[in-house]
This record gives sequence, structure tokens and C-alpha cells, in this order.
Amino acid sequence: MISRLIYYAVFPLYVVFVMYSSITLDKSLNSPMLIGAGLLLILSMFSDLRYPKKIVLFSILQYALLFVFHYYSQLNWCYSLYIILLSKVLYPIKRMYISIAVGFGTILLYTSARLTYMDVTKYNFLAVISDFLTSLAVVFIIQYIIKTEREKNQLIEQIERETTFYQSEKLKVMGELAAGMAHEIRNPLTTIKGFLQLSKSQNYTIKPWYDLLWNEVERMTELTGEFLEFSKPRITCYNVSPMHDCLQKVISLTEAEARILGHQILYTEFSKDLLVHMDADKMVQVFVNLVKNALEAMNEPGKVTIRLYSSKGWVHVVLTDTGKGIRQADIKKIFDPFYTTKQTGTGLGLSISQKIVQDHGGKLDVTSTEGQGTSFTIRLPLKPLTAAKGA
Ligand SMILES: Nc1ncnc2c1ncn2[C@@H]1O[C@H](COP(=O)(O)OP(=O)(O)OP(=O)(O)O)[C@@H](O)[C@H]1O
Ligand SMILES: [Mg+2]
Repeated sequence: MISRLIYYAVFPLYVVFVMYSSITLDKSLNSPMLIGAGLLLILSMFSDLRYPKKIVLFSILQYALLFVFHYYSQLNWCYSLYIILLSKVLYPIKRMYISIAVGFGTILLYTSARLTYMDVTKYNFLAVISDFLTSLAVVFIIQYIIKTEREKNQLIEQIERETTFYQSEKLKVMGELAAGMAHEIRNPLTTIKGFLQLSKSQNYTIKPWYDLLWNEVERMTELTGEFLEFSKPRITCYNVSPMHDCLQKVISLTEAEARILGHQILYTEFSKDLLVHMDADKMVQVFVNLVKNALEAMNEPGKVTIRLYSSKGWVHVVLTDTGKGIRQADIKKIFDPFYTTKQTGTGLGLSISQKIVQDHGGKLDVTSTEGQGTSFTIRLPLKPLTAAKGA
């Protein structure tokens, strides 16, 4: 903005000022020629705005017109015009040595015009050296300004690019979630619709299909509940509590189901005092999800082993089953919302669990061997005993 003000307001004004000064001081060699060159110079300054691709041609033209203007004005004051023109020409140049060459060239032109009306004295010779040094300083300052501005623009562009990327990623995830949700809800809805149509021909009685319909409605309720849970932004009830207590609760909640299916849950803990800053209910939900998955993955009577230990400031819980395992190609997908290989699964269990663990500053990892079993590891920051007492 400021540079535009200099090129398109200050520069023309200065040209008019030099014209006026040269004519009134009776210095001009030829007033009509001076006025003509001055007007053309102003015009050329505006023309390169319209033809930005011909900037080199216009720059050469402007230097030539300035030289003629200077020659007819016979005034040293034209120096400022050379400097303004130089700053404009330097703008698109990236290499320093080219900028210095252009700077020296500009002063050479100025000196040549100046020598047409100045004697070669010691004073003038030293003035020429001073002009060259000034041009060098101008080149350095302008290059510095240009470099800083270029870096600033690059940074702004990068931030804009990243913002757009994250925005579109967010929209993509939202879209996937919404599509998955709609797909999951459509199945029970189709069933309900079918039975309602059937009931019309049976005198609107739904008694024979009541249980089926109820199950489908339950499934939708569960699904929407889990979906809402998934989009909840924060965990509300953090406390420092022992991981051992949390796992005890998980075992008491899942033991009966395991026994019915003929499986065993084995639990080994290396310490009962491993404390974690957590929402214990949410953490129980995570482990119940994992244990249920493990139980469902074992077709034959099998074992679910839970190990609790700490290492390097982290509490580790490793949950291993002797189930069918996961194919390497599918392992990346299991944390995707709605990815399921089960007839009645929602595919939200692991994605919700992963989110809860991440909200606690932890990590959920998986390793699996097809036909042998799967191992899920949860890592959470260990809360030191002393810190917990103080808290
Ligand atoms: N322990 C495991 N062994 C083998 N495969 C597993 C195990 N845990 C998860 N998976 C695979 O990951 C998929 C996704 O699990 P996730 O818990 O997210 O959903 P789900 O169990 O299918 O459905 P939901 O949890 O809603 O009942 C499962 O369908 C299954 O294919
Ligand atoms: Mg599950």
C-alpha cells in the first residue's frame, strides 16, 4: 500500500515539482522537452500497472525517460526520482548481485546525466562516490524489506493452506460419520417399516413381532447414544484413582458373560498402587469394550489375560485374547467408526475407546496374529503417589 503511494502519488508529484523548479530557476535546457519527458515518465509509471507482464520493457523505458528528463531539468534533485525508480525495479529481483548491479547501473545513469551540466571537480568526484555508496545502502535496505515481506507472505499462505486442509479433513470425517450413522440406522428402520406394513394386513396387531421390533428400536437407541457419546468433546469427571480398582470392576462386569461362553478371564497385577488421573467410569467403559471384543473373538473356549504394570512413567494395561486374530490388512481399519465384522456390531466400540484414551493423554495400540490372538495395550500417564497425596 505504502509502496503504491510512493510510486503513483509521490513520484508524479516530485516530477511536477522538478519541472516547476527547473523552469522557474531558469535551469531547463528546453522547457517543452522537459514537460514532455516528465509527462511521459508519469504516464509510463501508470502504464506498467496495466501491463504487468511487460515490466522489464517499461522499466527500461522509465530509465530512458528519466535520463532525458534529468538532462533537460539540469537539477540534481532528480536523484530522488532515480532512487524511487530503483526501489520499484528491485522488487521482483531475488538475487543480491543482480540488485547491486541494477543499483550501480542506476547511479551510473544519474552520474552521466549530471556530468552534462556539472564540471569534473574533486567535489563532484567525491559526490559520485557518495551516490554509489548510497545506492548500495538502498539496495541492501530494499532487499531486506522484500525478503521479510516475502517470508511473511509465505507464512500467511502456509497458514491459509493448512487451515483449508484441516477444514476439509474435518468436513470429510463429519461426512463419513454422518453417512455411517445413516447407514446403520436405515437397517433397523427398514425392518420396523416392513413389520408395520405387515401388521396393517393383520388388523394392526404387532404382538407377534413385538420383541423383534423392540430389539430394533433398542439397537437404534443404543447406536444414537453411542454416537452422541462419541461426539462429546470432554471428559467431565477426572479423579486420581488406582487402575487396579478400575480393572476389578471390569472383571466383575464381564465375568458372568465370559463364563456363559466358556471363557476365562485371568488378571495379574504387579502393583495395586498404580494411580492414574482419569474418569474411572469412562475407563471402565474402555476395558469392557475391549473384553467384550476379546470374548466375541474366541469361538473355542479361550483365555483373556489382563496384565497391569508400570514402566518409565506410564501405566500399562495389556489385554490379550486367544481368539481368531485380525488380518494385517484390516488392522488399520478397526479404529474407524462403524467398521465392524459382526452381524450386530455397531463398529463404534474401538473408536470410542481410542478417543477416551487419547482424551486421557494416553495411547491405545494393537498387535495381532491371525489364528492365534490379539493384544491391546493401553498406556496412560502414571500419577506419582506423592503428587496424588498432595492433590
Ligand atoms: N480382540 C479382537 N479380536 C479380533 N478382532 C477384533 C478384536 N477387537 C476388535 N476386533 C475387530 O474390530 C472390529 C471393530 O471393533 P469395535 O469394537 O469397534 O466394533 P464391534 O465390536 O464390531 O461393534 P460393537 O463394539 O459396537 O459391538 C470388530 O468388528 C472386529 O472385526
Ligand atoms: Mg466392540
